[in-house]
Amino acid sequence: MQRRDLLRLSLALGGTSLLARSPLAFADALIGKKPTTPAKLRAGEFPKDFLWGAATAAYQVEGAWNEDGRGESIWDRFAHTPGKIKNNDNGDVACDSYHRYREDIALARHIGAKTHRFSIAWPRVQPGGRGAANAKGLDYYKRVTDALLDAGIRPFPTLYHWDLPQPLEDAGGWPRRDTAERFADYAKIVIDALGDRIRQWAIFNEPKTFTHCGYWQGNHAPGRTDPLAFLRATHTVNLAQGMAFRAIKAINPKLEVGGVFDPQPAYPATRGEADLLAAQRWHKFANLWFLDPALKGRYPDGVLPADRQAELLGWKDGDENLMRAPLEFLGLNYYSSWLVADAPQGNGVPGLDTNAEWARYYAPHHQTDNGWDIYPKGFYDILVDIAEHTGHLPIEITESGAAYNTAPGADGHVHDNARIAWLRAHLLELSRAIRDGVPVRAYHHWSLLDNFEWADGYTQRFGLVHVDFKTQRRTPKDSAAWFARLIAKNVVPATASTVAAENGRLLSAD
Ligand code: FCB
Repeated sequence: MQRRDLLRLSLALGGTSLLARSPLAFADALIGKKPTTPAKLRAGEFPKDFLWGAATAAYQVEGAWNEDGRGESIWDRFAHTPGKIKNNDNGDVACDSYHRYREDIALARHIGAKTHRFSIAWPRVQPGGRGAANAKGLDYYKRVTDALLDAGIRPFPTLYHWDLPQPLEDAGGWPRRDTAERFADYAKIVIDALGDRIRQWAIFNEPKTFTHCGYWQGNHAPGRTDPLAFLRATHTVNLAQGMAFRAIKAINPKLEVGGVFDPQPAYPATRGEADLLAAQRWHKFANLWFLDPALKGRYPDGVLPADRQAELLGWKDGDENLMRAPLEFLGLNYYSSWLVADAPQGNGVPGLDTNAEWARYYAPHHQTDNGWDIYPKGFYDILVDIAEHTGHLPIEITESGAAYNTAPGADGHVHDNARIAWLRAHLLELSRAIRDGVPVRAYHHWSLLDNFEWADGYTQRFGLVHVDFKTQRRTPKDSAAWFARLIAKNVVPATASTVAAENGRLLSAD
């Protein structure tokens, strides 16, 4: 959509001119105020105002790692350390979206996206993690935001998708309390610059993943394997979530602030009581550890030993108020489901005593190319569970998708039927959850583009659009055509083959 279409939309919606309406009102108009009656939806159908789009993250697509004053992040340092990433890949160039963002936004528009999730790189905006802002970094995100608005797409940023400025890690990283204050300052800089044109803001992407993998398992930046530092990190992140929430609201209380979490259902490995209890502990630890502090001002009990919890987390009097953040929406990411066994020998986290895995139910043909189990019903189960647990806050699916590494065929097209089948099965479950009363208002596919997949480097492809990393050529896959049809009809299309026939037609018409 170009500006003139936006004008038409705003006239239709409010009878006032575009000039009288702000980009913030544009987002409000897209989301709509009246929820459609879910009970009236047919299987596979979505509510009228449902927002469709795709997601990306700064380090995974931008490249330009040392341009225009950008500072070093923990991911630059980690990926530049030999042996950390498959093939020693790194995000120095990635999809080069720092220079090609217009092309990428045009692709999103082509697919018919109404929303686009991206992240803001802290070291681009505040290179050392403290002190003055880098105007060139902020300008980049202003250009991206304005290009999205011009295309009639809602800009939907996440403040932190894992790229901590390296100087803050050198000073102690997330286990250090002071990092929470630094984060709130950074949030203020971003909102001062962009709060006039973006209504919905997500604070952290998957706080569970970046603390677990970064400080406990060590397979993500900064690569530490210290369970006690990890527990401190979880607490700092919870404090930072509350502090950033208030920093944003202090600038403009009308901005809507939420977070992005990755709850996946935790099923017990056997019917035995020990595994059942382990699954409950894991659910509280993996799924509720960053939600309950925000919404309830406390940690779930029954995970850490009660008499040691304060010491293990570095808790101070009053922290219950600092970490409270009455989030106004939840971003949820879904990929697979946990299978959890009791681990009486321990796993480094006092009291947790679990072994949790994502790939054990099925034979390889029931897994995606990176070995994650395919379990669509888990999507339904966790949505129902989290909606009930959080009092039915509005939900946006902020990521969901699958790694399938289909290469372009002889005809130049990417016939990724496996992704279409994966998507179809999961979206039918999403539609079922909405019909059963889960208040989901948006879905962002992970990802728009094939990109740098963290420790897997460029070996795993999640995109609707294929990227040739040698030439940066973008080729929409068959799944992009299928997704475009989904958006156009607002109902889950039939099978891959019906849509494959339409490939080209859907994506060649401007
Ligand atoms: C999620 C991350 C996202 C992407 C997908 C596959 O955990 O948030 O950046 O890597 O996994």
